[in-house]
Amino acid sequence: MADILEQLAAHRLVPVVVLDDAADAGPLGEALVSGGLPVAEVTFRTAAAADAIRVLAGRGDVLVGAGTVLTPDQVDRAVAAGARYLVSPGTSRAVVERANEHGVPVIPGAVTATEVQAALELGIETVKFFPAGTSGGSAAIAALAAPFGGVRFVPTGGVGTANLGEYLALSCVAAVGGSWMVPRGLVRARDVDAVRSLVAEAVALAAHLRP
Ligand code: 3PG
Repeated sequence: MADILEQLAAHRLVPVVVLDDAADAGPLGEALVSGGLPVAEVTFRTAAAADAIRVLAGRGDVLVGAGTVLTPDQVDRAVAAGARYLVSPGTSRAVVERANEHGVPVIPGAVTATEVQAALELGIETVKFFPAGTSGGSAAIAALAAPFGGVRFVPTGGVGTANLGEYLALSCVAAVGGSWMVPRGLVRARDVDAVRSLVAEAVALAAHLRP
C-alpha cells in the first residue's frame, strides 16, 4: 500500500478527472502517458466512473485511482474495476475500513487539526487537503505540518499553474491534485493533443518546483 502512495508522490501531480463516457478513457490515457504523467484519479461523480477506471487500468501503464469515494460500496466497485488507490473529499471511517479490507491505500480528506487527528486515529498518514484554496491554502498546510510532522498532504481544489509552486515547495506535500490538467470538456471531446499539452506543461512546471 505504501508503495502506491510512494509512486503517487514520485509523480508529484494527480490529474482529477470527471469522465462522462467510459469510451473517453482511452484517449485520456493516451494523453496522460504521452504527456509524461501516467496518473489519474477518476471521480465517482458520473455513472461512467467504474468503467472508465476499468479502461485505464486495462492499459497497464496508468496509475489509476478512484476519487470522490463516499461509500463502502463505491470502494468495492472502484477496487473491482482496478483502482490502485482511493481518494475521499472527507474522512469516513466506513470508507477507510473497507479500503483496508481490500488492502488498497486510501487518501481521505482533512483540513483542520481535528480532522487530521481523526485520520491519524484510523491509521492514515497521507490526507487530501480539500478544498485547498478555500481552506487556507499552503499557509494552512505549513501550519498543520508543525504539530503533525509525519503527515503528508495532497492539496486539491483551486490548484492550478499559478499557485502550484506554493504547494510543491512544502516538503510535507506528497503531491498536488487538480482538474486543470484534464478539463472535462477537452476529455469529453477526446482532444488528446490539448490534454497532452496541459499535462506536459504541468509536468514541466513541477519538475522546476521540487523542494
Ligand atoms: C477534487 O475532487 O479533487 C476537486 O474537485 C478538484 O478540484 P479542482 O477542480 O479545483 O482542481
